[in-house]
Amino acid sequence: MPDENGNGKNGNQVGLIDKVTTGIKQDLDSLKSDIPAKAKEQIEGLKDPTKTQVYTSIFRHKHDDTPRNRALGVLSNVFLHLHPAKINRDAVRYSYTWGMGGITFYLFIVLTFTGVLLMFYYHPSKVQAFRDVLYLEHDVPFGKILRNMHRWAAHLMVIAVWLHMFRVFLTGSYKKPREFNWNIGVLLLVFTLLLSFTGYLLPDDQLGFWAVTVGTNMARATPLLGHEGPFGHQLGMTPYNDVRFGLLGGSIVDANALLRSYIWHCIGIPIVASVLMIVHFWRVRKDGGISGPAPVMLQAEGDNPRRAQKAAGE
Ligand code: HEM
Repeated sequence: MPDENGNGKNGNQVGLIDKVTTGIKQDLDSLKSDIPAKAKEQIEGLKDPTKTQVYTSIFRHKHDDTPRNRALGVLSNVFLHLHPAKINRDAVRYSYTWGMGGITFYLFIVLTFTGVLLMFYYHPSKVQAFRDVLYLEHDVPFGKILRNMHRWAAHLMVIAVWLHMFRVFLTGSYKKPREFNWNIGVLLLVFTLLLSFTGYLLPDDQLGFWAVTVGTNMARATPLLGHEGPFGHQLGMTPYNDVRFGLLGGSIVDANALLRSYIWHCIGIPIVASVLMIVHFWRVRKDGGISGPAPVMLQAEGDNPRRAQKAAGE
């Protein structure tokens, strides 16, 4: 029941309605002033997107062209931070590195990509392997170019890795503190050659069959582990239990050898090579970056002190 002041059940309702109405009024009033202010802010933001909250939440530093900002740009980007923020300009000249390590890595990526696509069409069995290759060559759309990209990239990778090793040798970059990375490199060379060799058998054609027959016959003569190698006989090695038998999964190049080649080629060796590459690249940085000659000042930089400072990253 309401009292004389109109309070009580109905009185409370009236008070509540008043409160809500004034609240809504206040909100509407503030919206009237806030909306134009917010709109103005948004429009200002469009004029200079680098000041918007979205932009600053992604890029956490200014983009002025100063050495500090350039370094921050590299360090705060997940992809770029794989590179050092500062490098000796002369160490990355193509005339010094020949770009061969990078080209080798690029070819490895091409091989991985085209290799995965080839796996969609290839079966590692005696019945199907050669037919699949013919099918790729003649019927699969872009199959011929796919197969040839893989084959040519493989040849090029072998050439590039040798040239890379040759340049590292010529520039004396195998010396202290890079001895360990040279050894990782030697392993990478071996695994690159093994990738090439195991891929050779996969088309199951005459070329691959005889190449692998000759190649694995050499394994007969492995010291200790081959039945024709030094001390092999004394250690009980026979054509049916030596290292060649292990490689081929039998005593002749046949279905088991094809399957083993396939697994080593597509899974085993690429994984080991990838891990070694990660270690290799990491070591290049830990050993002080690419070896490089002492920084050289260009004539133009000598004439202009500001350019010289910039080139030195100051
Ligand atoms: C899959 C094979 C390989 C890849 C992808 C690779 C990649 C690279 C890359 C990108 C660099 C940076 C400098 C440059 O590009 O020249 C480098 C440096 C180096 N690599 Fe390799 N490499 C491979 C094999 C080898 C081999 C076979 C050796 C020697 C046996 C080797 C020894 C070195 C050394 C010592 C450095 C440091 C060179 C310096 O500081 O000047 N690498 N490698």
